[in-house]
Amino acid sequence: MRRMNGHSASFPFVVEGLKRLVERIDMSSEPYYPGLEGVIAGETAICTIAGGLQYRGYPIEQLARKARFLEVAYLLLEGQLPNQEQLADFQSILVESGDVPEPVIDLIQQIPLHAGAMDVLRTGISALAHFDPQQDDDSRAANVAKTLRLLAQIPVLIAARYRHSQGLPLIKPNPELSFAANLLYLIRGTEPTASHERAMDVSLILYAEHEFNASTFTARVVTSTQSDLYSAITAAVGTLKGPLHGGANERVMAVLEEVGTADNAEPWVREALAQKQRIMGFGHRVYKTGDPRATILHESCAELAAEAGQTELEQIADTIERIVREEKGLPPNLDWPSARLYHYMGLEVELYTPLFVVSRVLGWAAHVIEQSENNRLIRPRSRYIGPERRDFVPLAQRG
Ligand code: CMC
Repeated sequence: MRRMNGHSASFPFVVEGLKRLVERIDMSSEPYYPGLEGVIAGETAICTIAGGLQYRGYPIEQLARKARFLEVAYLLLEGQLPNQEQLADFQSILVESGDVPEPVIDLIQQIPLHAGAMDVLRTGISALAHFDPQQDDDSRAANVAKTLRLLAQIPVLIAARYRHSQGLPLIKPNPELSFAANLLYLIRGTEPTASHERAMDVSLILYAEHEFNASTFTARVVTSTQSDLYSAITAAVGTLKGPLHGGANERVMAVLEEVGTADNAEPWVREALAQKQRIMGFGHRVYKTGDPRATILHESCAELAAEAGQTELEQIADTIERIVREEKGLPPNLDWPSARLYHYMGLEVELYTPLFVVSRVLGWAAHVIEQSENNRLIRPRSRYIGPERRDFVPLAQRG
């Protein structure tokens, strides 16, 4: 009996001792995957690329061909496709949610014009938090309500900044238009053609979600600390901006502009590869044989290029694509066709990555909700490669 008591008394000390040991474990022999390549960093029911890209089980090809963007938005947030009544309610909530507070419009219009559109959008989204009465409510209902406000207000923010920079008056959303048509209307000031509306709708569907990409993972890390949805989305926007992620679609246009003519495509790309340049819009961390989204959008590009009388740009793109595949075995990613698609719609390059935000906010928000409903702080370990332990030398004694 005494021994048993002795054991139970010493048990907490043993556990403490083990914990201390774990804290001090040298992780240098643990496996390490730079860029977390191939690492499963969590579970999700939102999206998979295994067996083809699927949102909540639906193949992306079917969604892009048969669904409209708002059906996909509902699917990502609620887990199932809406019926007609649910979609109508969803649409009316969006229409009612589009009013951006006047001080936020004033703020983004006062930011110096040299600031990039993604930086301004990041500031604008962050500022919206201060006007949202549910900012710190992380219930599922509040997070969905905040997401719908962001979905409605991000297009207004982008258009307000863009039109201000062009000296054009602000336009109010048109509740009669579809989400994609209204987005183009807010920016360009005219209602789009049916083909532009449909192409924008498809690109929004394709950009909406992509499991644990860098910006989504950022949003999940922020959420894992029990911070709020606006903080997660603001951080995700900053991550998306980088040229290895969402910023690639703007760099793609710079490539196409530099190439200029169909005749120059082959010499340009061969020289760029010889110089070991990264060709923006090619390669992907998880798609090594092809990005299905790029294949889908290629069709829309061909259609819009023909309409715009800009088929030479498609020839340039096809030549570059062929040679990068032949020489490096790299297929194009979604940003390769999307840049051309937006160009054929007459949109300025600085809008391309912000347009990615318009729809990816859904994926981010769905992950924020999923993370907060089954949360565990995301806090990995690192492999230390710094100096050996050494003793502090007082300032006066340092040579
Ligand atoms: N152009 C030329 N070579 C490339 C490219 C490229 N775009 N991408 C990868 N490579 C080469 C790379 O140099 C390396 O070659 P080597 O083995 O001879 O050194 C090899 O391919 C493997 O590259 P990696 O950097 O180890 O591959 P990764 O999985 O880390 O890279 C990537 C993924 C997206 C960062 C990279 O492909 C890239 O920089 N692409 C260009 C930027 C881009 O288009 N980003 C959009 C990504 S998809 C949509 C999105 O997230 O927005």
